[in-house]
Amino acid sequence: MLILGIESSCDETSVAVLEDGKILASLTHTQEEHAAYGGVVPEVASRAHLEKIDLLAERALSECGVAPKQLDLIAVTDSPGLAGALLVGVSFALGLHTAYGIPVTGVNHLEGHICSLFIDRPDVKPPFLVLLASGGHTAIYEYQSSQNCKLLGQTVDDAAGEAFDKVGKLIGFPYPAGRSIELEAAKAKGSSGITFPIARFSPQAQSKSQNRQNFSFSGLKTAVKIFISAKDSNYINDNRPEICHAFQKAVVGSLTDNLEAASKSSGIKTIAISGGVACNTYLREELKKRFGDNNVIFPPPPLCTDNGAMIAMAGYMMYIDRRTRFPNMDPGRGI
Ligand code: KG4
Ligand code: ZN
Repeated sequence: MLILGIESSCDETSVAVLEDGKILASLTHTQEEHAAYGGVVPEVASRAHLEKIDLLAERALSECGVAPKQLDLIAVTDSPGLAGALLVGVSFALGLHTAYGIPVTGVNHLEGHICSLFIDRPDVKPPFLVLLASGGHTAIYEYQSSQNCKLLGQTVDDAAGEAFDKVGKLIGFPYPAGRSIELEAAKAKGSSGITFPIARFSPQAQSKSQNRQNFSFSGLKTAVKIFISAKDSNYINDNRPEICHAFQKAVVGSLTDNLEAASKSSGIKTIAISGGVACNTYLREELKKRFGDNNVIFPPPPLCTDNGAMIAMAGYMMYIDRRTRFPNMDPGRGI
């Protein structure tokens, strides 16, 4: 079954062709226009998608020698995301539908991130816990089957990737700052004594919420801001790696602590990660230490960040399971 996957929910225009769940071609264009503004500008994103989407689709199809009329299905992200950006992908998919009569299915972006796990590891057997950590979302799901994927907790304010990006901006890195912070943190020497607090929910607060493993990152961002504003620029320049390391340690500590609590309460030992923050090597190493090398599933980095292949895979899994979307996925703002 040949599927074209289209992703344009934020600042990546990405198109992929999959045959029976295997990638034949996958092309991603990351918009660099937003670096100048320190974050994604929705209108700029929509226009940039418009400039690239048809070129990428044409190249992806010609790279794998598939003609548009051979496609069995088009899977396109329709929620959650920036409305104008989503509209570009969906309109392009509907244009192909009109021209070639290919069926189109809308895909939830978060479901796409979860399904990306099965591209590289079709052998993986549920149940497992999924940590989805990106610029827009941070959540833990218990994946029992494609009919049963339960939300265990999510951020109540900023997403983990958003915290990386905002703290990066304070420290002087361009958007997106996750990778820059990781590289800077790796230069830290020994123990600096710098620590940042991370919000933890009291057992009472957790028990009041339906979701036991919630996160909060906005207080951490404020803590870094207060720390930096109390120091002079020489101190910041001399201690940038140590500041990055302390911040990264706090974020990763929160992600891994909540995963450990979810693992204990569910009895599930296998952990999978997805989303842009899942590219972080320190997070990967910490997860291996806590859960064991063989119990953690890491997709390759191009499948962690936003990509059309994961959307095609989600469309493929809907088709083979004869079902609609995963229940309980945050539809956020869609179209
Ligand atoms: O999944 P993604 O490509 O887009 C969203 O759906 O948001 O994730 C992008 C996010 C950005 O916030 C970026 O800073 C973060 O992932 N990111 C990282 C790393 N690489 C990307 N965060 C920490 N460490 C990294 N190596
Ligand atoms: Zn994403």
